[in-house]
Amino acid sequence: MRIIFLGPPGVGKGTQSQKLVDTLDIPHISTGEMLREAIRAKTELGLKVASQMEGGRLAADEIVVQLVRQRLAQSDCRNGYLLDGFPRTLPQAASLDLALAVDDEAIDAVLNLTVDQEELFRRLMERAKKEDRGDDNEDTIRQRMTVYHDMTSPLIAYYEEQGVLHRIDGIGTVEEVFDRICHVLNKVE
Ligand code: AP5
Repeated sequence: MRIIFLGPPGVGKGTQSQKLVDTLDIPHISTGEMLREAIRAKTELGLKVASQMEGGRLAADEIVVQLVRQRLAQSDCRNGYLLDGFPRTLPQAASLDLALAVDDEAIDAVLNLTVDQEELFRRLMERAKKEDRGDDNEDTIRQRMTVYHDMTSPLIAYYEEQGVLHRIDGIGTVEEVFDRICHVLNKVE
């Protein structure tokens, strides 16, 4: 299966992706994680995107599209994958569709996780106490939310039109949310 996780910062995309790839045995492709790894390794790419990420802004479409293209070309993606945090803009989604169309492939399901704003803040501020993520502070979280609203939320309508969007309530325990996801995916298969 080819699955996309959509949703605002802190909604639980990373947490649920990890559980789902273990169950489905497909690769987890997190653009946020790939970019953070590039920053840690101080690669040319990492140096290019560091200031945007620290400020809660998006990396340039060309950079991320290229990164994902290279990753999807690897053999472990042949039978499916889970995209976490990509696409994040309409141009990214269009370029993914174009790349899929070349091989007569398509996305099977887009899982749109939803949680109210207050809970998103609570989760991210809680994570900031435990983990060292440069973009988990109050100002940057607000900026990430604005970017999500302006640049990423239009993808909800984009995938709704394609008939592959599924809304999933992200409130509840991790297990409860995971059960809802499995329920939806069982119907897609
Ligand atoms: P990215 O790494 O994708 O971050 P994000 O979208 O901001 O999402 P988060 O990782 O903050 O949250 P999440 O939804 O994964 O939730 P999580 O499971 O961690 O992107 C970071 C940056 O990279 C971007 O700002 C941008 O600069 C750049 N970037 C990435 N992709 C890009 C792209 N395509 N184009 C351009 N730039 C790109 O959960 C959050 C917390 O809540 C955790 O502590 C977790 O333990 C907790 N939690 C999870 N589920 C529950 C639950 N059910 N109940 C209570 N707590 C929960």
